[in-house]
Amino acid sequence: MDIKSRIDYLRAELERHNYNYYVLSAPEISDYDFDQMMKELQRLEEENPQYFDENSPTQRVGNDISEDFVQVYHKYPMLSLGNTYSEGEITDFYNRVKRQLNTEFEIVCELKFDGTSISLTYEDGRLTQAVTRGDGEKGDDVTANVKTIRSIPLVLKPDDYPSEFEIRGEILMPWKVFEQLNKQREEQEEPLFANPRNAASGTLKLQNSKEVAARRLDSYLYYIPTAEIPVATHWEALDKAKSWGFKISDSRKLCRTLDEIFDFIKYWDTERKNLPVATDGIVLKVNSLSQQRELGYTAKSPRWAIAYKFQAERVCTQLKSVSYQVGRTGAITPVANFDAVQLAGTQVKRASLHNADIISQLDLHIGDMVYVEKGGEIIPKIVGVNKDERSLFDTEKVEFIKTCPECGATLVRSEGEAAHYCPNEDGCPPQLKGKIVHFVSRKAMNINMGEETVDLLYDKGLIYSAADLYQLKEDDLRVLDRWGEKSAKNLVKSIEASKKTPFEKVLFALGIRYVGETVAKKLARKFKSIDALRKATFDELTGTDEIGEVIAQSVIDYFSKQKNVDLIERLEAYGLQMCEKEEQQPGSDLLSGKTIVISGTFDYYSREELKEMIERNGGKNGSSVSSRTDFLLAGKNIGPSKLEKAKSLGIKFLNETEFLEMIGVPLPDKTENGEYVLF
Ligand code: IVH
Repeated sequence: MDIKSRIDYLRAELERHNYNYYVLSAPEISDYDFDQMMKELQRLEEENPQYFDENSPTQRVGNDISEDFVQVYHKYPMLSLGNTYSEGEITDFYNRVKRQLNTEFEIVCELKFDGTSISLTYEDGRLTQAVTRGDGEKGDDVTANVKTIRSIPLVLKPDDYPSEFEIRGEILMPWKVFEQLNKQREEQEEPLFANPRNAASGTLKLQNSKEVAARRLDSYLYYIPTAEIPVATHWEALDKAKSWGFKISDSRKLCRTLDEIFDFIKYWDTERKNLPVATDGIVLKVNSLSQQRELGYTAKSPRWAIAYKFQAERVCTQLKSVSYQVGRTGAITPVANFDAVQLAGTQVKRASLHNADIISQLDLHIGDMVYVEKGGEIIPKIVGVNKDERSLFDTEKVEFIKTCPECGATLVRSEGEAAHYCPNEDGCPPQLKGKIVHFVSRKAMNINMGEETVDLLYDKGLIYSAADLYQLKEDDLRVLDRWGEKSAKNLVKSIEASKKTPFEKVLFALGIRYVGETVAKKLARKFKSIDALRKATFDELTGTDEIGEVIAQSVIDYFSKQKNVDLIERLEAYGLQMCEKEEQQPGSDLLSGKTIVISGTFDYYSREELKEMIERNGGKNGSSVSSRTDFLLAGKNIGPSKLEKAKSLGIKFLNETEFLEMIGVPLPDKTENGEYVLF
């Protein structure tokens, strides 16, 4: 078999297995075999960039190219649906349709998926564009991100699909992924997503499609806004779309009577809790496409469809007290306490009140009968007060606290911020402990101790800051309650081992506000040492890839505080890594006189790093392909125009491995977690 045929074979097979796994949930081969095939295809594509195809299964992993989303007009506006919450309104809808059509009709009942809507365009069976709803008339072109979603076919199964058509549906983040993502964000002190819908739409707008790929979004498609499909009903349209390879929900029913519709609603109101994705209601659609046309549209929504929204589960209970939690950043969260009640299958006795504004909007008094709801969110919230039941006497209005419940400091609230903060970073116990917990966490210094150990050592007066950890002796520890020789030894050993943690992780461990794992990595790569970072100006910081003004200001604020500088000096004195370990790579004139153009993304090095290598070895970086170009250094996702031009001019292609060999740079090794060790 020649190379091109092998590539075609692998692409078709991988797409088929993808469909079996993500759409049918019925894999035929093991993950290992799938990975092997994918690796082979990746290798063949890399070695033969002339066969690049933007819809190849290899493209689902995303790339590092930052996308500024282009706005695109929808061919047919993306309308919303009329919402109802009551059976009465469903009856009204049904009777209205009956009156207008004046003949027999069927209603398709479907689940209303609670994600973010998307419109996909296919041309000759290939996905060419994915656009968000936006304002209904125009949305963002998020094609690169959508291609990473495994249940969305890049190439359709051969069948009778129209040569060009749109299909619409919902992009969803499954509950499991959502919970994991929020857990991870909590660990990294990033703001949590309130529900899977926000998480899905936030993910679709990420600039880096590689990150989108890692978030494991899913999809359900439910509507083809084109007349040119070879069917007469919505039900058949869904079946057709299913046969072309789309993920279409089987939780749908063809109904002829109101009773059948109500049965469907009743069944799914409870059964939906067992689904892996969020749903917030039922959609009713007139089945016949010609009847749909007859009914037509209002300015905002179709007259042939309506959404019934499930009532979020709600209970009424008496507010006992409000307490205040202090987070590790000093943010204060008010929490309502009440007698335990049963809500959406769990016992709840607390609900977040979010911030001072929410409390005053609710005009909350202790003893009030409050409505507690658990909607798409994980954390229950208070949505209202039954004022009719408020006693006329002796009710105490809830006033937001003025001082920190943990350390007594006067709280501050910056302009434009919803939250109150305790400013006593250096003396407020939950803040001090929180910083240490973050410092030792797995993704930071990876010291083998949990939150309880931090609490214990803090309460015993053994540690107040991360630097104190490096002074701990086995003798201090083995005398503690339930601590033995062995656990004391292990902890000291783990602390000692952390001194080898690379600079970028140390930087993350410091807990500078907004400096998460990725930002820390970028800063470490650019500035190379804590001293250089400390001296960096605002412009130098914002001139760094992906560092905006808020992060830059936060870094400057951090280093402007003497106590932070003192902490770093202490950590440095204990032997922590405060600069990047970099073996200076020698220069050469191996590429002297050669002009090289880089296109695409690469496995081992960023484009900037490769450009630096070209220059260090005497070569010149060309910006566009011309007859003066000697080589095209081609990665993945190479720009099609560059590819064509280089081919027509007969320019030699180099892949990353060939290039590195050419200048004598050994290939980096891969670590266990799949990242490359660069230097
Ligand atoms: S049909 C013209 N079907 O609910 C009708 N929509 O306000 C097109 N949704 O924006 C929509 N599940 O994002 C339809 N099975 C379903 C749906 C559904 C969720 C969303 C969609 C739409 C909103 C309606």
